[in-house]
Amino acid sequence: MAFPVHRGRRLRRTEAIRAMVRETSLDVKDFIFPFFVVHGRGVKKEIPSMPGNFHLSVDQLVREAATVAQLGIPAVLLFGLPAAKDPQGSESFSREGIIQQAVKALKKELPELWVITDVCLCEYTDHGHCGWVVENRVDNDRTLELLVKQAVSHAESGVDMVAPSDMMDGRVGAIREGLDKQGLTDVAIMSYAAKYSSSFYGPFREAAESAPAFGDRKTYQMDSPNVREALREVAMDIEEGADIVMVKPALAYLDVIVRVRKQFNVPVAAYNVSGEFAMVKAADRLGWLDGRRAMMEVLTSIKRAGADMIITYFARDAALLLKEERS
Ligand code: PBG
Repeated sequence: MAFPVHRGRRLRRTEAIRAMVRETSLDVKDFIFPFFVVHGRGVKKEIPSMPGNFHLSVDQLVREAATVAQLGIPAVLLFGLPAAKDPQGSESFSREGIIQQAVKALKKELPELWVITDVCLCEYTDHGHCGWVVENRVDNDRTLELLVKQAVSHAESGVDMVAPSDMMDGRVGAIREGLDKQGLTDVAIMSYAAKYSSSFYGPFREAAESAPAFGDRKTYQMDSPNVREALREVAMDIEEGADIVMVKPALAYLDVIVRVRKQFNVPVAAYNVSGEFAMVKAADRLGWLDGRRAMMEVLTSIKRAGADMIITYFARDAALLLKEERS
């Protein structure tokens, strides 16, 4: 492969040939769009650090989800903001909880849309931790009971797939068992298998009002320098019954996506998190880069690393751009 016989530039000369040799392509079917649902009616309030993303009441959610579905985006991921928070996050497993209402409405109005719910306690607890706090620490095994109740309650409302994001040990197995006991065997589990303790969740915590009131999440979320540990976490979750495993965040962890893709044969999801989104949006607003091109480059890198699907706040914009490119 030596110069001058070989010249890489030959295959870069025009868009036609670049398209023919392109190794990775983005498709609208790769995307999962996250939504934040709140109580009330007619609420559509933009989240300041996440331009183009909103707090939506159920009626508005159904409208927004319909446009997302129309664009060809196959799935949505729901986060809920409860009416009140308490130590055990009781609204998370209440029949009338915000997520339960949202799931019912979406499955009724848009039955083809694949609906996923985040299963975690941090949005619902007054201390903002992802589990049951006993003497200032998160009690793993007691938390499992609450997570199972929440997942079963989402499933009874009609959800297609639950996505536990709490990082308690054993939660995938406990949730699978809890669902199966109720005959909810068709409800899938996408586990946040390799979820790191990350500064990139900043905007989300503002959006979900879920920052921990004391301490941090380092005793349950992974330490960012580790990758072998991620492979152990993924292996455990698959063994416990995860149908899809996730790496989160995506961008600063592309190597983790590569490794997980290589080692396991289940579908891999990557979460292009709020801070990764906000970074591009902010730089675009400052005129420091071209936000649309950066968006596509970021999403393509996640796909190239090996993700089968990408949870991203860019989903709508990217779907529109892909449509533009086709026409
Ligand atoms: C809840 C949860 C978080 C995110 C998804 N589920 C926040 C956290 O762990 O603190 C982050 C998503 C994002 O930043 O876009 N446990």
